[in-house]
Amino acid sequence: MTDFDPDRAAAELLHHADDDLTSGQPLGPPIVPASLYVLPGTPTGPYQYGRWTNPTWDATEHALATLEGASVVSFPSGMAAIASVLCSLVRSGQRVMLPSDGYYTTRLLAEQYLRPNGVIVEECPTVAMAQADLAGFDLVFVETPSNPTLQICDLNALALRATAAGAVTVADNTTMTPLGQRPLDHGIDIVVSSDTKAVNGHSDVLFGHVAGRNPELLEKVADWRKVTGAIPGHFESWLVHRGLETLELRFNRMCDSAEVIASRLVGHHAVRSVNHPGLDTHPQHELADRQMHRYGLLVGIEFADATAADAFAEKAEFVIPATSFGGTHTIADRRARWGDQVPDGYVRLSVGCEPTEPLWAAIEQALDTL
Ligand SMILES: Cc1ncc(COP(=O)(O)O)c(C=O)c1O
Repeated sequence: MTDFDPDRAAAELLHHADDDLTSGQPLGPPIVPASLYVLPGTPTGPYQYGRWTNPTWDATEHALATLEGASVVSFPSGMAAIASVLCSLVRSGQRVMLPSDGYYTTRLLAEQYLRPNGVIVEECPTVAMAQADLAGFDLVFVETPSNPTLQICDLNALALRATAAGAVTVADNTTMTPLGQRPLDHGIDIVVSSDTKAVNGHSDVLFGHVAGRNPELLEKVADWRKVTGAIPGHFESWLVHRGLETLELRFNRMCDSAEVIASRLVGHHAVRSVNHPGLDTHPQHELADRQMHRYGLLVGIEFADATAADAFAEKAEFVIPATSFGGTHTIADRRARWGDQVPDGYVRLSVGCEPTEPLWAAIEQALDTL
């Protein structure tokens, strides 16, 4: 565990812009929908063209940077952030390690765009990655806890071994947010995040970011955005800035409820198994204790089959059948419908911000009908 103080970080996040505030200014950042800026003579200054820089992106990146303790480049989605890293830091002939059990679109990106362009891509289960033979790899990408099976990789061990092998390390921290887990503090070079999930948290925007403390790496990522035009919208940036203000409240409520719900699901006759890093039956529970500040808001529930899982998702009051996670509403997603290598009846439950007891009562009532 790092000596990070989440309460202090949340307070600093809320006050990240205080030094820039002068009398009469609005507290929140302005939305600046600019494609161009007035620019006479030799181009100078931070704002020259809308694809390069924008004051609303800057405000949101500053907030995210305060939270990450690192430089941040923002993107229009989590996948745009991941693509920026994999495409700007890896060349033809280089070797990349990806998790075989993480978010499937990252593997799809490798399949459709890295491999055809000469990058050698290998896959490894999340739990085995820190012990894998990393010799000859140029970039090692990990996602922990992995989505959807919540497998955990030892970030300290991975960072040490990958760095010794000469590889750049990247961690997808989407399932935890910087309040729940700090990959950069464990020696990982780059964090990627889908802020579509808990960071924004209101299911009304797609967004992503890349964070890191190595200026050279971040420069390449920023240059990728500038040249490819994979830029965030000003309004979306503003929404994420607003969402961030309540991240700590939402994240703690969701994690608290997830712990309660996971423990109560255990032993219910309609449930075959429960998967949550906070349960002492989770195979990497001790590692979770050492590495994560919270156990997260996701709970894996295995039902007897797809019919039972779908019935649960549709019947439970206060639970919405949908795909995504980290928002204010509790969401149930049967992952086999997307081709994930999980049992047909495996549901990824994203515990929302509903007060815990009514939410549990709704879940229990639906379970009792199965
Ligand atoms: C772990 C993880 N990383 C990245 C992404 C991609 O994020 P986005 O949908 O914002 O592109 C997702 C989306 O579900 C995800 O679960």
